[in-house]
Amino acid sequence: MQKDFLKEVRRRRTFAIISHPDAGKTTLTEKLLLYGGAIRLAGSVKSRRAQKHAVSDWMEIEKQRGISVTSSVMQFDYNNYCINILDTPGHQDFSEDTYRTLMAADSAVMVIDFAKGVEEQTKKLFEVCKMRGIPIFTFINKLDRAGKDPFELMEEIENVLGIRSYPMNWPIGIHGNFKGVYNRQKSQIEVFNEGKHGQTVVESVVGDVTDNIFKDLVGEDLHQQLMEEIELLDVAGDNFDLNKVLKGELTPVFFGSAMTNFGVRPFLEGFLEMTTPPIARMSNKGEIDPESNNFTGFIFKIQANMNPAHRDRIAFIRICSGKFQKGMSVNHVRVNKTVKLAQPQQFLAQDRAVVEEAYPGDIIGVHDPGIFNIGDTLCQDNSKVEYEGIPAFAPEHFAKVYAKDSMKRKQFVKGIEQISEEGAIQVFKRPHAGVEELLVGVVGVLQFEVLQYRLEKEYGVDIKMQSLPYRHVRWVEKENFNYDRFSLTMDSLIAEDKYGKPVVLFENQWSIQKVEERNPGTILKRVSTK
Ligand code: G4P
Repeated sequence: MQKDFLKEVRRRRTFAIISHPDAGKTTLTEKLLLYGGAIRLAGSVKSRRAQKHAVSDWMEIEKQRGISVTSSVMQFDYNNYCINILDTPGHQDFSEDTYRTLMAADSAVMVIDFAKGVEEQTKKLFEVCKMRGIPIFTFINKLDRAGKDPFELMEEIENVLGIRSYPMNWPIGIHGNFKGVYNRQKSQIEVFNEGKHGQTVVESVVGDVTDNIFKDLVGEDLHQQLMEEIELLDVAGDNFDLNKVLKGELTPVFFGSAMTNFGVRPFLEGFLEMTTPPIARMSNKGEIDPESNNFTGFIFKIQANMNPAHRDRIAFIRICSGKFQKGMSVNHVRVNKTVKLAQPQQFLAQDRAVVEEAYPGDIIGVHDPGIFNIGDTLCQDNSKVEYEGIPAFAPEHFAKVYAKDSMKRKQFVKGIEQISEEGAIQVFKRPHAGVEELLVGVVGVLQFEVLQYRLEKEYGVDIKMQSLPYRHVRWVEKENFNYDRFSLTMDSLIAEDKYGKPVVLFENQWSIQKVEERNPGTILKRVSTK
């Protein structure tokens, strides 16, 4: 029994894919599922892609939520590994959930568009991975098209993101002439055959770089160029150091094209060899070993149910230790109550299934009758383990929100509170102000629409929203903080979060710097831990 349990834990690999919209996250995910045998023909995840550019009316929101429930996490087996891919919503669906999902991952795959390099959303998501110190693997995508110089791209990653990089493989033929990759560890070449537009697994020829067959396959000139580039990399580049990779200080880089499947298998295999099984997590009782028998997990995402008549929700649990079994009762540590985890579900490719058992690294969704908050810990025994809370991440859009009818204030406050508990919005308040005037912050603007719709439909409250010009919020850390003595710029606003912690809203980066300068001893933080 115990042996089986350990085997299951050790074969788990749980990671999130991060990227800027359109870099190819969906395509790569789909191809990983294809190679894992979870789908037969690539293209089935496409419905998501088709709707992501659509207008965001409520029907659309509903659809997106439905879809993001089923595709929040995908599990499949490959070479005896059990892989959990966590979806990080992007586009209009970009929200705090996107950041929080990263808290549930043990490593991250960063997809970068070969032509565009490091883009804005990638930077933001990267910062969270860096803060957690998890391993980050880079997949440079769209090598089948013209792009930047691979050497310059590596430099860009290092300069913009501040992480050292190590190319695990090197592209052979760029700018529309992509033939294959050279594996630096094995000194092997892999040349791909044209496939059926990437719909099925592509065949390739693999062999020693010195084998003459490759001179024919890629052409004498390209082969020569490759040999020179490899030499340059070996002389000028960083050394490979797995320890640094595991600490998130060095990112292994893979080149490929998700659309044509070139380089997808070498990436998947290289990544699986290096990445980590479930990692120990910090709690109030110290680090919890995933291999310990006591079932523990934490809630990192709450998804409101689509049926507005019942305010029931699905809570997503990241299992951190022990084995989950259907019908299990656990201690809900924050409120110190025993709860039965009802209707447990797991997500396999596009399907949802009832889960009988699950292991550390897995994500399960359970029915939430409104008792869970983001960051709550569940624990099988009575040891009262509580994992470190999930931080609040800086919203980027703000609005003043009022109930149109002041008689409905009670419902208004209740609705806002519940929706903020689910983590869709953050609520701020001017110091000394009443609840009539709430400031709401969101990471993605779509959340404003969700808020308006839900308050009306679920709580019967019509609201008025006045959009505010702020784009940044920083939590203030200062000894003996005093609202009246804190010096601001003309275009910044002081407020407090729902725990009463002081924050400042800013219109631009410049003001952030100014306020820091004007208030010596102040640290302005982008993330707040409870
Ligand atoms: P995302 O999830 O990161 O937003 O990106 P997604 O996979 O949806 O890919 C964005 C676009 O880039 C898609 O084109 C997709 O086909 C294309 N793409 C992905 N990987 C590659 C690649 O390796 N090479 C090339 N040339 N293109 C790639 P689209 O026109 O938006 O959609 P579609 O009509 O192809 O479905």
